[in-house]
Amino acid sequence: MGFKALLIEKTDSGFTRSIVEREDSDLPEGDLLIDVHYSSLNYKDALSATGNPGVTRNFPHTPGIDAAGLIIESNTADWSVGDKVVVIGFDLGMNTAGGFGQHIRVPAGWLVALPNGMSLEQSMLIGTAGFTAALCVDKLQMAGSVPGQGPILVTGATGGVGSVAVKLLAQLGYEVAAVTGKAEQHDWLKKLGATEILDRDAARQDANRPLLKERWGGAVDTVGGEILFNAVKGLKYGCSLAACGLVDSPAIPATVLPFILRNVNLLGVDSVQLPVNQKAALWNKLGGEWQMDLSSHRSALTLHTLSGAIDRILAGQMTGRGVVDLKA
Ligand SMILES: NC(=O)c1ccc[n+]([C@@H]2O[C@H](COP(=O)([O-])OP(=O)(O)OC[C@H]3O[C@@H](n4cnc5c(N)ncnc54)[C@H](OP(=O)(O)O)[C@@H]3O)[C@@H](O)[C@H]2O)c1
Repeated sequence: MGFKALLIEKTDSGFTRSIVEREDSDLPEGDLLIDVHYSSLNYKDALSATGNPGVTRNFPHTPGIDAAGLIIESNTADWSVGDKVVVIGFDLGMNTAGGFGQHIRVPAGWLVALPNGMSLEQSMLIGTAGFTAALCVDKLQMAGSVPGQGPILVTGATGGVGSVAVKLLAQLGYEVAAVTGKAEQHDWLKKLGATEILDRDAARQDANRPLLKERWGGAVDTVGGEILFNAVKGLKYGCSLAACGLVDSPAIPATVLPFILRNVNLLGVDSVQLPVNQKAALWNKLGGEWQMDLSSHRSALTLHTLSGAIDRILAGQMTGRGVVDLKA
């Protein structure tokens, strides 16, 4: 069957983007063929679309690390035609044709059932970014974080991961301090629940000092680099930072001092290879006790408007979550 997809091709002058007709026979082998209703735009998709070899090596390629839709062919007894499913992470959109195509074919081990009470569109409003925000909060809680220990610092706060982290933490009763480079979004961050806003440049200051004043009851970092380690140096005794991103830098200018003098923890967060049973458990939490109203996060995208949004996310200019309607 034919379907439409955003195709990235490698040419002598760089990587091109176009919307093309593809056939199911162009898709890789897999247990399940899925009719994708919604996808979402993540920073990693923009890296794939611009040929970052750490994300995608094989071109032509269709990015899209997120997809939600209905099964239209199943080779396994565990899933039936018509089941509503969500796929995030694993190799989807990396070197496997992803959710920026109207059909995907994937192994059964990548799927979770759409949580009860959640629509396909809502699942993609969360998507990898929102799921990762929830995973960061879950990790902080497993490390002992509870409300009342001091503000949780969230960096890259208007981005996909950051903005959902601000919303979820505030909803769970945490005080939230948000770091942003977007002065015009301070009011929105306050509406999401941030009680303190820090300018991104201020968050970089004092990078040469070994320790900073103990301010934070925890932190969710999406940017890496000096901002990450300044946050670690500002953690209160025994508190933790969940690190998931690198939009500023993958390098950390670190010493052991905060760890050995303040007993703080640096927690790694990966949503991509997280075992599917753990993914399903967290998705069900997001459909239940952690359900959020993310309507103010939503930017509506289609295959036709994706390319501009890819440029905006690369430039750090996206706010909230871009949801791609594959049927529009
Ligand atoms: N570990 C995982 O499993 C996992 C999963 C999902 C995402 N990630 C990573 O998490 C990061 C965020 O992803 P995302 O989808 O939320 O991206 P995003 O929507 O582009 O958000 C990133 C935000 O970071 C801020 N920012 C941009 N450039 C910056 C810079 N040079 N220095 C400091 N801050 C900067 C901006 O927010 P402000 O303007 O508000 O500062 C931007 O909106 C990415 O590195 C992504 O690869 C990791």
